Amino acid sequence: MTRPDDWHLHLRDGASLKAVLPHTVRQFARAIVMPNLKPPVRSVADAAAYRDRVLAAIPAGKQFEPLMTLYLTDNTSPEEIIRAKESQFVKAVKYYPAGATTNSDFGVTDMSKCDRVFEAMQQVDMPLLLHGEVTAQDVDMFDREKVFIERHLIPLKQRFPNLRVVLEHVTTSDAVQYVLSANNIAATITPQHLLFNRNILLQGAIRPHFYCLPILKREEHRKALLQAATSGNPKFFLGTDSAPHPRNGKESSCGCAGCYSALHAMELYTEAFESVDALDKLEAFASFYGPDFYQLPRNTEQITLGRTTWRVPDEVPFTEFGLVPLRAGQEMTWQMLDASMAEAN
Ligand code: DOR
Ligand code: ZN
Repeated sequence: MTRPDDWHLHLRDGASLKAVLPHTVRQFARAIVMPNLKPPVRSVADAAAYRDRVLAAIPAGKQFEPLMTLYLTDNTSPEEIIRAKESQFVKAVKYYPAGATTNSDFGVTDMSKCDRVFEAMQQVDMPLLLHGEVTAQDVDMFDREKVFIERHLIPLKQRFPNLRVVLEHVTTSDAVQYVLSANNIAATITPQHLLFNRNILLQGAIRPHFYCLPILKREEHRKALLQAATSGNPKFFLGTDSAPHPRNGKESSCGCAGCYSALHAMELYTEAFESVDALDKLEAFASFYGPDFYQLPRNTEQITLGRTTWRVPDEVPFTEFGLVPLRAGQEMTWQMLDASMAEAN
């Protein structure tokens, strides 16, 4: 199949960036790189510097294009949006509600404060990427996405109908329904939300490596996501939300949110698509609809996935503590083959 891209990825920085980037580069040609560093990537200058660090971390002889994003805050200016558009390498602006997830303290406290920025984004056609969850304490954890759509997304789309929006990592049938019903909106879907429902979080014991935000939902929602991903509708495309945290940050009395899937993302998606006999829909979901939305050319090289059984490592090297990949220690039924292996097959 055509080499895919990852339209939602956390690469971190420094030694962590160097540890995880080779996994993504092996599978994907490009990725939308999330800006939730400490401190976040708030300006075009920040994004340029971060991009240089990502480029410097690409393993020798490999091709990879980081597509940068800005972190929206209460203080982002419309002028920064114009500069971002002119930069050519900033491809989108990310909205985190303040306090919703990892490193979101600088996030937006009230969406209506950003209307001048949204106006500028609509004007220059800069996509808005949404972490679509409310943080209001009166809202149940499992309803945060649905309530975000009702309270914030529908009014936003009424104010800015031409603003192009990606509802990131959708987790509910409510989100699927909304994305299908509205214009100028698409959604990314992660491998964990296609493969697992919320039961896995508490299967006999608490399982922190399946904890991400938005949290896994009921089986009926997983089914709706799988149906959307395999429907051939270009509004749904691949975004892993691979989010590395060191083992001690996950296995803790106050564990971080994030699943690490960059190691084996395509294998996980392939398994999900195969489970509903929809392998023929995988290439467009993984390699066509994302670039079409972002108005970028589709990749031309090919990758090969073969049917092979292998075991996901218990841990991969990362900082001093190691990184536990999604489904660590379990068997996989597909494997991405390196070019030489693919030829031999
Ligand atoms: O699970 C998550 N992890 N969700 C997010 O929104 C952020 C991410 C991270 O950066 O770790
Ligand atoms: Zn994310």
